[in-house]
Amino acid sequence: MKVTVIGAGNVGATTADVLSYRQIVDEVVLLDIKEGLSEGKSLDMLQATTLTGSLTRLISSTNDYSLTANSDVVVITSGVPRKPGMTREELIGVNAGIVKSVVEQIVKYSPNTILVIVSNPMDTMTYLAHKVAGLPPNRIIGMGGALDSARFVTYLSKALNCSPADVQGMVIGGHGDTTMIPLTRLASYRGVPVTQFLSAETLKQVAADTMVGGATLTKLIGTSAWYAPGAASAAVVESIVRDQKRIIPSCVPLNGEYGQKDICLGVPVIIGKNGWEKIIDIQLNSEEQELFNKSAEAVRNMNNVLAT
Ligand code: NAI
Repeated sequence: MKVTVIGAGNVGATTADVLSYRQIVDEVVLLDIKEGLSEGKSLDMLQATTLTGSLTRLISSTNDYSLTANSDVVVITSGVPRKPGMTREELIGVNAGIVKSVVEQIVKYSPNTILVIVSNPMDTMTYLAHKVAGLPPNRIIGMGGALDSARFVTYLSKALNCSPADVQGMVIGGHGDTTMIPLTRLASYRGVPVTQFLSAETLKQVAADTMVGGATLTKLIGTSAWYAPGAASAAVVESIVRDQKRIIPSCVPLNGEYGQKDICLGVPVIIGKNGWEKIIDIQLNSEEQELFNKSAEAVRNMNNVLAT
């Protein structure tokens, strides 16, 4: 299996590193317009493989899209990350131009690929990719819910004082500080609803911490995070290339599901060799549906900026 990662910055390089370190694919191509960056990072990773024993081949390029030809999956992380105090939405103008040109070049060389969109604002960039790629809808997946759910699970495990591995939780809706919806009602500690262990007040705080999870890290680090985003992107790729059929909340086009149309938004989907293969209807209660509708409205407003 061959995977290309566009953007060799913090998130792209970490994605490539996880894919290589865990030998999820045979070949990773890393491409970045910044002179020397993808070459340097892939050489560094290649040297690491001599120590880790990974057999993944690492190839790099500054702008030669022919090297990406016939990629099974392409992860798009190219673009500008946010700085402290910025919202993801503020990145729309710059990143839309970058994502559009990257998608056009990718599909020229890999017409049957599956795209994983990471660049922010991710919901709008995924919507844009659907408009310009000309790929079947199932072959474009926006990555946000995997990361937000990882953050949700982390905060839940802290509140429960247990290992994150024992906790399951899901975040749906938009990938924005105010648009994501941590589903506390459905979260569980080894199958037992967390509502049995945590008070409503604690759960409210966990949800609030999750929603600003990215901003908290941006403030601490000075730029947006990369370890969990890279691992989350690699998890989506792994479910595709190994046909794992994992349920991962991801940004996909809705055609009436969850009461929405002509929008890409985070919902639980089964991910396998064909991309996102099925949208799971988890039967939101009225309060959750209302939040979902509000989230859709905010994302739709952002999508409208693309047309201006
Ligand atoms: P970064 O600045 O470290 O890396 C971005 C890279 O993209 C840079 O190396 C830059 O040279 C490259 N680039 C820019 N234009 C390009 C083009 N036309 N072709 C190829 N490469 C190009 O940024 P970082 O931290 O890696 O974040 C990347 C994007 O991912 C940002 O938009 C960020 O907001 C987003 N992000 C999304 C997450 C999600 O859950 N969806 C999580 C974390 C970040």
